[in-house]
Amino acid sequence: MNRRPRRNRKSESIRNLVEETSLSVKDLIFPMFLVDGANKKIAIDSMPGIYRYSIDTMLGEIESCLNLGILAFDIFPAYPDSLKDTVASESYNPETFYLKALREIKKQFPEVCLMSDVAMDPYSSDGHDGLVKDGKILNDETLEILARMSLAQADAGVDIIGPSDMMDGRVGYIRELLDKSGFTDTSIMSYTAKYASVFYGPFRDALDSTPKFGDKKTYQMNPANSKEALIEGELDTEEGADFLMVKPALSYLDVIKLLNDRFSLPIAAYNVSGEYSMVKASVERGWIDNDRAMLEILLSMKRAGAKVILTYFAKEYAAYCKGR
Ligand code: PBG
Repeated sequence: MNRRPRRNRKSESIRNLVEETSLSVKDLIFPMFLVDGANKKIAIDSMPGIYRYSIDTMLGEIESCLNLGILAFDIFPAYPDSLKDTVASESYNPETFYLKALREIKKQFPEVCLMSDVAMDPYSSDGHDGLVKDGKILNDETLEILARMSLAQADAGVDIIGPSDMMDGRVGYIRELLDKSGFTDTSIMSYTAKYASVFYGPFRDALDSTPKFGDKKTYQMNPANSKEALIEGELDTEEGADFLMVKPALSYLDVIKLLNDRFSLPIAAYNVSGEYSMVKASVERGWIDNDRAMLEILLSMKRAGAKVILTYFAKEYAAYCKGR
């Protein structure tokens, strides 16, 4: 035998030399859930280890993450039904607890890279990401609401706006309003290829944001398609996105690779709630090793071409690296 690939695997030091992909805490964004009020830390049944925080306890949690080296956070608000309406008006009320919390986080920790979510669902009595009329999700009428929401978030000091709604044209529409309003430095991480996925279930439990009727298939992508991801990638690039995201990540590693091969913008992967919960459920049953599963999953996303990973494992991974 002339070729023996095992020679490059014979010791840890050699394996390290030939290792192609590496993962770092610097690649990660930690998604966190915010509720109104004070002194709250509420467990989410379907996401062991993940909580809904009020702003005071969230600041403490962010501080402990910073001590572990995590610098980027994506904050999602959970609103009570009493504050939801058909036009998501609470989303751009400057006194709403979400915007106040974003402001507070940037004030206390200016070094943090703060990302926000743009979509109507947390504030919508219909539970959809866009405006609903006669059972249909309206596209162009939704853009104005999304842009107002983005402007309010930019004004609160957010570094990266994250449109997760999948309306056509929203990146350009948001970019234009931000620029006109002087927020030329506010970035946009577009949810470029966001699939209509079962793996968002635990997230919707966390935010109580399940659609009140139907599903999201008229705006989120069909899991059978990858060419459509290229169309979305072209549009988002032209419209001024700074990052292209693929979501979920694990069942769409091919899409991550496809976008990374075709586009120069950094690719982000969203390791979503259901992907996290599947691991935690098997760990609880003693069927799988938590740390090794976490490492292999995150590494696979980087190997596929993601530069950035949004993951509920962020804090655990950082603690693992510290302890090693
Ligand atoms: C809402 C939104 C969702 C997620 C992020 N933003 C859920 C959805 O589209 O229904 C899912 C994140 C996760 O599952 O971790 N626009």
